[in-house]
Amino acid sequence: MALRHVLKRTTIWSRIIVGRNFCNSNVKLTSKTKNDLESFKNKLSEGPSFSDFVQGNASSINTTASIDKEKHGKSVYFETYGCQMNVNDTEVAWSILNKNGYSKSIDIASANVVLLMTCSIREGAETKIWKRLNYLKSIKKLKRRKKENFQICILGCMAERLKKDLLDHVDVICGPDAYKDLPNLLHKSSMLGASAMNVALSLEETYADVTPLRLNESSVSAFAGCDNMCSYCIVPFTRGRERSRPMDSIINEIEQIADQGVKEVTLLGQNVNSYRDTSSGGGSYVTKTSSGFRTIYKPKKGGKRFAELISTIADRVPDMRIRFTSPHPKDFPDELIYAIKEYPNICKQIHLPAQSGSSKVLDDMRRGYTREAYLELVDHIRSIVPGIKTYIALSSDFIAGFCGETEEDHLETLSLMKLVKYNYSFCFPYSLRGKTRAYHRLNDDVPQEVKSRRHMELIDQFRKDALEINQGFINEEQLVLIECDSKRSELDWAGRNDQNVKVILPKQEVYDSEKGIQRNIEIGDFVAVKINSATSQTLKGDPIRISSIREWNNLKDAERINNYSS
Ligand code: 5AD
Ligand code: SF4
Repeated sequence: MALRHVLKRTTIWSRIIVGRNFCNSNVKLTSKTKNDLESFKNKLSEGPSFSDFVQGNASSINTTASIDKEKHGKSVYFETYGCQMNVNDTEVAWSILNKNGYSKSIDIASANVVLLMTCSIREGAETKIWKRLNYLKSIKKLKRRKKENFQICILGCMAERLKKDLLDHVDVICGPDAYKDLPNLLHKSSMLGASAMNVALSLEETYADVTPLRLNESSVSAFAGCDNMCSYCIVPFTRGRERSRPMDSIINEIEQIADQGVKEVTLLGQNVNSYRDTSSGGGSYVTKTSSGFRTIYKPKKGGKRFAELISTIADRVPDMRIRFTSPHPKDFPDELIYAIKEYPNICKQIHLPAQSGSSKVLDDMRRGYTREAYLELVDHIRSIVPGIKTYIALSSDFIAGFCGETEEDHLETLSLMKLVKYNYSFCFPYSLRGKTRAYHRLNDDVPQEVKSRRHMELIDQFRKDALEINQGFINEEQLVLIECDSKRSELDWAGRNDQNVKVILPKQEVYDSEKGIQRNIEIGDFVAVKINSATSQTLKGDPIRISSIREWNNLKDAERINNYSS
């Protein structure tokens, strides 16, 4: 049965909100006496709730009919906070607005709409946006005095989490599944001079029919939502249930950007490797989690899985590098690990968020694995994709000071880091989030200064390991995709190697083996670079020649055969 039909809609918040001061605007008071007014106010306070005035059916809203696309001439300024998924969401929102007659503004001063794509994952992320909102409200006041149009629009996770609590602060509140309603919300809010909101979560929206208008990066959304319910995490509440975008639509988008000359793509999703395309039938997989891993939800059946998706993409765009983020360790079947091994254009870099090295804390976090199961998976991946110089790079996320974390637990996390040796770790102090299981059931009992100290110790450990790994590249050749000017010097290029480490190299002429000429390096070139120095974050080296994924791979194969036979 199509998902559409089994969809039990979550509350739809799609109507314009005039509820904030509806007794002034919508209700005519016939009796003007003070008593009558008092009694009316009392009735109102006991009467229907806010939600009774805003629930409706999104399909009853005509999203674009009343907007004169050509004539409104409004411009929008984007600010994106948080993860790569938010960058992609901004591109989706921009595509929708562009089709509805909006242009892009290069600064706030010239914009009619400012759109904040927000993040709720930690309190700090929201604090930053509140500060920004205060600033934007002062700009709005100034603009209003000059009779200029200015709307503040909040999108993404914070819109979804705070919903009507944002009404007094912004003009439009639009959740992650409601971007198609954005032109309508902006229009109505502007017409009625009131705030408008749509924070409906959907079981099916993947924006498969919206081609994102690229702002800078090349990421393609494959998957949305999360069913895992890790006990600390707000994401399942702000991004809703898991859903996968149909495989064909992802492949089409990637082929299009490959035709435009883009050389690298990142497949995105909160749990991207839990991908399961059931739209076109087929697929023989029953969900089997990695050995030693379990989920809190029932095993899912059928559908094409992530290994099939990424292998198909790798076949279709052999000259493009492919990455994916963010995966969950539970979904690394051998098919996926072998795909990473076999395809030269799938990067040998896996993000494998551990969160903690203590089985007790992992259990409290509801991660679905123990320290031992995680370490076994690391060994298993490394046994399939081995080699110290073409070492599969692992990166991770860690949370310091989760509820009940003892000093011993923390030391276990440090020891796990030392055992695995990540080339990058994102470390965060635990931040209590409302609605989560940890909020309801556990105690946020690690003092702030202890959290901060442990957080710093995790960062120090990651830096030591990353430095050691990066020094291992010295005197090695690496294939670097050139991205931009180096931030430090216009005389240098900055790019990334296969393991996603930044590499700096001088701008100079080198031999292009495919064209048989000497030429300047350009953005988008794959360049063979001999590494001569390393820090924990960056490599530096000298360019040897312009290369390509295929040439590089043939060369490495030949080297491997030579090493083997000698
Ligand atoms: N506090 C701190 N870090 C968190 N993360 C998610 N929720 C929280 C929280 N409440 C981290 C996890 C996750 C990453 C995206 O953010 O490490 O993998
Ligand atoms: Fe949050 Fe866990 Fe889902 Fe990741 S897997 S988004 S940490 S609930």
